[in-house]
Amino acid sequence: MTDSEIIDFETDKQSTYMYELRDILYIRAGGKTPKAFVRTYGCQQNVADSEKIKGMLAEMGCELTDEKEEADIILFNTCAVREHAEDRVYGNVGALKALKKKKPSLLIALCGCMMEQEHVAEKIYKSFPYVGLVFGTHVIHKFPELLYNSVVEGKRLVERGTDDGKIYEGLPIKRDGTFKGWLPIMYGCDNFCTYCIVPHVRGRERSRCPENILSDARSMVENGFKDITLLGQNVNSYGKGLDQSISFAELLKKVAGIDGDFWVRFMTSHPKDASKELIDVIAENPKISPHIHLPFQCGSDRILKLMNRRYTVEKYMEIVEYAKKRIPDLSLTSDVIVGFPGETYEDFQKTLELIRRMEFTSLFTFIYSPRVGTPAAKFKDPVTHQEKALWMGELLKLQEEISAKRTASMVGRTMRVLVEEEAKEGILNARTHNGVVVEVPGKTELIGHFADARITEARNFILRGQLEQTK
Ligand code: SAH
Ligand code: SF4
Ligand code: F3S
Repeated sequence: MTDSEIIDFETDKQSTYMYELRDILYIRAGGKTPKAFVRTYGCQQNVADSEKIKGMLAEMGCELTDEKEEADIILFNTCAVREHAEDRVYGNVGALKALKKKKPSLLIALCGCMMEQEHVAEKIYKSFPYVGLVFGTHVIHKFPELLYNSVVEGKRLVERGTDDGKIYEGLPIKRDGTFKGWLPIMYGCDNFCTYCIVPHVRGRERSRCPENILSDARSMVENGFKDITLLGQNVNSYGKGLDQSISFAELLKKVAGIDGDFWVRFMTSHPKDASKELIDVIAENPKISPHIHLPFQCGSDRILKLMNRRYTVEKYMEIVEYAKKRIPDLSLTSDVIVGFPGETYEDFQKTLELIRRMEFTSLFTFIYSPRVGTPAAKFKDPVTHQEKALWMGELLKLQEEISAKRTASMVGRTMRVLVEEEAKEGILNARTHNGVVVEVPGKTELIGHFADARITEARNFILRGQLEQTK
């Protein structure tokens, strides 16, 4: 299978639907430019998918809006990773009932990871009769066709594709940002961590071919992008299944080799195959951010085994020690799950111990959430949620102290930053190469540009500074 075989077939067919929908949606909107509201839940992978959906909507003549009330199409791209993420979607879909009543022509569509779970798609279909279109992650490339069928036939439609293991290239993309963007390099996941729903809703791992990735990266740089994040659930296993032999480290090096002034970063790395080769590439390429997001999940080997993570605490520490030695400004961030089924307070203490030793810049912390269809959902889970919440409190307090210490150590330095947004009037948020936010006074014209910032003050996680010169 090559990617190009798929491009020609699918995009041609979908282009016809997009073309047909231009008139249909315009007429449905009462002879006005149709407006679409797209909300994205979950990770950057979903954000990148939504950018494709927005690209297709633009080709269909739609304008994006931030106001649900004025939309002709409302689309939620959902996340299934934890119960909380799903509950937010249910709540927000429930709230659309009144809008649909006021505007019967409103088309409500749900897509994304939640929809790839049969029981969820069924629940949505039954509980929310005003939802017109439901489609899963495997059929995003068919969005125009599905929308066409749903509008023309006026029937409710559910399409949860089976994972065909293919990669659909050449879909239009409307990026949310103008200088900071996401670049998917692979899809799916084969790791099957026992708590995780992602492999069940995103299908098997498949890598895009390097030529397509490099061409996207080049075009982003040409269009003024200054910060590019390569995306995948486990970027370290990039390249498996491709005809040519290429590792993630090699791909990263090639992206960093593109002419132009930009930073490249990546997420997420899995510790089981984080290689020294990768660390060396980061250390040797100034365009690659000295930032590694390396989720450890738990500091107890016993629990890591039950999680099917396939590394030990020792292996994790070894790769981090190597990275810290090779990359002086390394910023290390991680994900951690508290209260995995069977985890004891002693196991949890090992997690705290690892956090103390690793000194992460910041942590994404989650209380374990059982997911239907995953092995861990059947494990005995005797610790109450309340108790897990207390453990979490302990963890957060420790990490706060570490983060504060780390940010304080940056005071007095001058660092290159990318100015990202206005925080409040006259104050901008800028980000260092290794991902730490610095508040600086300055004009909004600087947004999207590199500058040098002298760090003058640290308050908990936030750094304050002054811009020295703009480049
Ligand atoms: N592919 C990435 C993670 C994607 S999901 C990786 O392996 O690192 C993002 C994070 O959500 C995970 O790292 C994990 O910490 C958390 N997570 C996933 N499933 C969860 C669950 N059932 N309960 C709580 N947290 C979960
Ligand atoms: Fe989930 Fe594990 Fe895959 Fe990450 S590597 S997406 S945690 S199964
Ligand atoms: Fe959520 Fe799907 Fe990402 S489950 S975390 S949006 S891959």
